[in-house]
Amino acid sequence: MSSSGGREQWGSRLGFIMAAAGSAVGLGNVWRFPYLVGMNGGAAFVIVYIFLAITVGITVMLAEFCIGRASQRNAVGAFKVLAKNPGWQLVGWLGLLAGGFIILSYYGIIAGWTIKYMIHSLSGLMPIAAEGGSGDVLGAFLGNTKLVVFYQVIAMLITIVIVASGIGGGIERACKVMMPALFILLLILIVRSVTLPGAGAGLDFYLRPDFSKLTGKSILDALGQQFFSLSLGMGIMITYGSYLKKSERLPSAGITILCIDTSIAFLAGFAIFPAVFAMGIEPGAGVGLTFVTLPGVFAKMPMGGFFSFAFFLLLFFAALTSMMSLLEVAVSFIMDEFHIKRKAATWGGGILITLLGLPSAMSLAGEPKLLGMDFFDFMDVLSNNVMMPLCAVGICLFAGWAWADSARREVTNDGLVSFGMIGLWTIALKFFAPIMIAIILVNGWPF
Ligand code: PHE
Repeated sequence: MSSSGGREQWGSRLGFIMAAAGSAVGLGNVWRFPYLVGMNGGAAFVIVYIFLAITVGITVMLAEFCIGRASQRNAVGAFKVLAKNPGWQLVGWLGLLAGGFIILSYYGIIAGWTIKYMIHSLSGLMPIAAEGGSGDVLGAFLGNTKLVVFYQVIAMLITIVIVASGIGGGIERACKVMMPALFILLLILIVRSVTLPGAGAGLDFYLRPDFSKLTGKSILDALGQQFFSLSLGMGIMITYGSYLKKSERLPSAGITILCIDTSIAFLAGFAIFPAVFAMGIEPGAGVGLTFVTLPGVFAKMPMGGFFSFAFFLLLFFAALTSMMSLLEVAVSFIMDEFHIKRKAATWGGGILITLLGLPSAMSLAGEPKLLGMDFFDFMDVLSNNVMMPLCAVGICLFAGWAWADSARREVTNDGLVSFGMIGLWTIALKFFAPIMIAIILVNGWPF
């Protein structure tokens, strides 16, 4: 582990990129992006998504890296160090609570499902799924709160053990193994999927450009997906940025992470739709697609159990590398602000967050509810539709206005790195990005 002034640092540029891409590549890439593409005009949607990625997504990501690296602090501490007006700390708190606590509390539950499905793929899921029983399997599992919590605890324990081992020796090392493994698994699944007889119909559904399906709603979906997928507005990239060396070139790192995240999301569609259509099944999204439809699809293939296992292992890696980043937001806050050592901060924070997940786990079986929503959905909507966009707007306004000159110095390493787009970046930060995010906020407001 290398360090500067006592703060840990990433061991290498590649390690940092793998960790940040690991945070970005998650369940959203596999189950949400391909579906949004299929429903919103195929390639037409991909073009809009890429346009928004290079205007809004990368803008906010770079701002977060700058805030983190300049302050060398956690999401809240960063604003204490950099902002004259203490009101800006609210932006950090929104990120900390959304990312470090709320999202992780329920993301750990879904990660637990992937473990259960990995095991079950090799032990009995396939024959049931072949008979169309995978919906009942999921229903019975979610109704069994003890089992759901059991797998959640396993997923959290694995995350805690990795994060407790530190930035270089824990998170970075794990991501350097899991990200390439995830990529190889994805390639295996793509080859299997596109070589099935009848796969062409799936490719047609996925990609045929149809601009008539591209509506205002599609653009909002693209933007919302972008923030979730790049893990923005949750304190993550501030926290990961705080472990960066002063000499690291931020713009090129940001673009690399963006390319990895977008490519994996795009490729996931090639693993999913050809197989779904080849087996004559209707495509869907989210939990239903992943845990109900796909087991049915795998069950119809030769060696289905193996491919099902490979798919859930891929999802597990995707979820785990995202969970590490979420836990690190909380851990870094606890370490910096309370001067607690990493091991204690990780175990303390991790156990607290696991407990915070219990009402969500219970709500999958029916209760508790809050404001008419299952507790699980409430946590999801509160973090993603309210806190995340508020935090992201705050980041743009801070880096674009209040802290603008320093942000420009930070992104170019005090003028040492040439960043040709700096003019556009500044304009995007001041105007375009906050306006776009405000539009998502208003349209997605749940209450
Ligand atoms: N970016 C992850 C995905 O695409 C989700 C995520 C959001 C992870 C927020 C961490 C924090 O699924």
